[in-house]
Amino acid sequence: MKYASLGIATVVGAIALAGSVQAQEFGTDEDAAYAALLWDLMEADRLAGDNALYGFPYEGVNPHGAMLETFYTQGTINGHTGALVVKRNYGPAEVSYDEVIGDPAAHLAALTVMFQREDGYDSDNQNWFWVKYLPDGTLDKNPAGMSLAGRVAKGAEQGCLACHSAEDDYLFTTDASIGR
Ligand code: HEC
Repeated sequence: MKYASLGIATVVGAIALAGSVQAQEFGTDEDAAYAALLWDLMEADRLAGDNALYGFPYEGVNPHGAMLETFYTQGTINGHTGALVVKRNYGPAEVSYDEVIGDPAAHLAALTVMFQREDGYDSDNQNWFWVKYLPDGTLDKNPAGMSLAGRVAKGAEQGCLACHSAEDDYLFTTDASIGR
């Protein structure tokens, strides 16, 4: 019995440790603060917010929305300049081009963003920082209540990283070099 309970305690301890390591990959206060800086940059560059510029949307694919707009640029945060890819996700499912163009803000469901951070941020995954904003700039959360900002969801079987790692450069839409 003694050994059995010791074994269980060890397993429980290992699970708790694995959980805490994974928990630090995204959704921390630091991730939220960095995402806030990124949002400010996007607002200033008219990629997000009330003064955002709009283009012609295209039909989207799951999980990103019925209509999408994608922008490729660069941004500078804390002295580091990196590739910035902003995807605007529009809905609902059957939304038409004219409905999105006529009132983009009303159909905007979320902004999913990739920003290539400094070397060493996530060397396993080309240093991409992942974030999902709601239209007002607040962070969307996963069902466990974790904010979707940071290395989302490193080590998990589903999520930004798991899906995008199917591409060598983590980008589905293009193989072009975008300042990386
Ligand atoms: C199940 C797969 C899947 C998941 C999960 C996913 N994406 Fe994507 N993502 C795609 C596909 C497919 C595209 C290409 C869509 C298109 O045609 O514009 C894409 C495109 C993008 C783009 C445009 C750059 C590119 O890859 O071409 C960004 C930015 C992006 N996703 C961010 C995110 C973020 C942030 C998350 C997590 C919150 C996420 N994605 C989760 C599949 C996924």
